[in-house]
Amino acid sequence: MKTYTVKWWKFLFGNGFKERAQEGFDQIKDCLSGQHKLIDIGSGFGHVTSLLQEKGYEVTSVDAKKHYTVAGVETLIYDGKTLPFADNSFDSALLMTVMHHANDPLALLDEALRVAKRVIIIEDLVSSNYSRWRTHVLDRILNFDFINPIQNLSDEGWKRAFADRGLRLVKTDYWRTNVFWSHIDQAHYCVDRLDG
Ligand SMILES: C[S@@+](CC[C@H](N)C(=O)[O-])C[C@H]1O[C@@H](n2cnc3c(N)ncnc32)[C@H](O)[C@@H]1O
Repeated sequence: MKTYTVKWWKFLFGNGFKERAQEGFDQIKDCLSGQHKLIDIGSGFGHVTSLLQEKGYEVTSVDAKKHYTVAGVETLIYDGKTLPFADNSFDSALLMTVMHHANDPLALLDEALRVAKRVIIIEDLVSSNYSRWRTHVLDRILNFDFINPIQNLSDEGWKRAFADRGLRLVKTDYWRTNVFWSHIDQAHYCVDRLDG
């Protein structure tokens, strides 16, 4: 299994966010082939949006909360439930380490599937009570968020959610990210709606 290491000093003093965006892009780039019009849902500080824009994609950045964003990225803030776009407005929707931060992760997946035929996901996985506890502690420290709910699913949980929706799983990939003294297991899922 591939491993990455979060170097916290780079996030504080260097280009850690840019490097993380590049690692994310490397994970999803196969799935972006032939896709042009993207929506980056839960874009946070906008590093992934910015990188994709540099690479020539047309990217709309949206988030449920207002954050500081990198130069050149304008993020549309919405209510976290209903994206203000018509059905099938985009080729692909990106949900990169977002769904476990949402109040209703599966409702957010459904909303992404409404506006785009393909949904590209990166998620932190849990596989036991211990890994749930460990992942939550690390996630809260990394995101400096000690209040909002965190709701991770297991790999089986995500695959069941995709199957329940009749989605085609185009690609799956797994890796481990070393964080401080411990690690988070992560997955990339690329799913397509089969209708229209
Ligand atoms: C860990 S950050 C990930 C940021 C970015 N996707 C990245 O990979 O750098 C999670 C983001 O999800 C956003 N978020 C949480 N619930 C959301 C929702 N229902 N809709 C859109 N964004 C949401 C948060 O505000 C936050 O910006």
